[in-house]
Amino acid sequence: MNQTSHTTHDSAEDERNRDIRIYVNGDIVHRDAAKVSVYDSGFMLGDGMWEGMRLHNGKWAFFDEHMDRFFASCKAVSIDVGMDRVGILDALTRTAAANDMTHDVHCRLMLTRGVKVKPFQHPSLSRSGPTLVIIMEHSRPVTELQSRGIRLATVPQVRGLPMSQDAKFNSHSKLNCVIACLQAEQAGADEALMLDPHGFVNTTNACNFFIVRKGEVWTSTGDYCMNGVTRAKVIELCRENDIPVREKNFSLYEAYGADEAFLTGTFGAQTPVAEIDGKSIGDGSCTITRRIRALYKNLLEANTRSGL
Ligand SMILES: Cc1ncc(COP(=O)(O)O)c(C=O)c1O
Repeated sequence: MNQTSHTTHDSAEDERNRDIRIYVNGDIVHRDAAKVSVYDSGFMLGDGMWEGMRLHNGKWAFFDEHMDRFFASCKAVSIDVGMDRVGILDALTRTAAANDMTHDVHCRLMLTRGVKVKPFQHPSLSRSGPTLVIIMEHSRPVTELQSRGIRLATVPQVRGLPMSQDAKFNSHSKLNCVIACLQAEQAGADEALMLDPHGFVNTTNACNFFIVRKGEVWTSTGDYCMNGVTRAKVIELCRENDIPVREKNFSLYEAYGADEAFLTGTFGAQTPVAEIDGKSIGDGSCTITRRIRALYKNLLEANTRSGL
């Protein structure tokens, strides 16, 4: 990564993360002792699903929505989670307690098909049950990105059709996104703006993508991107607050000429986009982005106050 590059996941350094405890299949151990087998299907093939979640005010933000996606993804690829969402919540609660964490915490909940008996692809070779790992880190997004904005580059790597690897899978294998991110970095940008197979603007390598034009908020149809929890919340908030919002096809022509553009994701909520392919977006005032960010902040507070 070049010296000046930023990511939507930039967070303030926190010394405490050197000594966090990690959940591995029921055990909670120091990060240096947290290990999975080299025969694990996640390591060998990227055969697993994950969720990025935030602990806020002692509660898991939008827990039900994350669990809906997680369980649907595991079901779609026949990974037996081995517990219900109450069991997952219990594992999360135990890990948070072991780390004395309640707020400004980011969690990566990962489930793979488990350890294989031989180093080959066939799913039936994973016979001893899934591997569940929970990493929680103290994590506060850097505020600088809110004023500076992220720089995107359009890349050759596209979001594929659902019959190859459906972009809705939050799978361990993120090679499509990693290749896109590399291409963006090589073009001198922070992250990648990815098109769909028809050339319409779709999403970024790690977040969902929105533009604002003449007071209207636009995002892609959703056919080729991650069904982001934050994306759905932003669309809902716009509808509830009389901000016109459309899920539609649009091209780079409309993205370059937008008044504002922003990304959404659990980690950074809404992150303004400063430029796309070296062209600056709007005048930097980000009026609607800031309004949506404030509405989302209120929603997050309400969601984590009301409990699970
Ligand atoms: C490719 C991609 N797009 C978008 C998102 C944002 O989703 P969410 O808002 O649920 O965090 C993610 C998060 O994992 C992602 O990996």
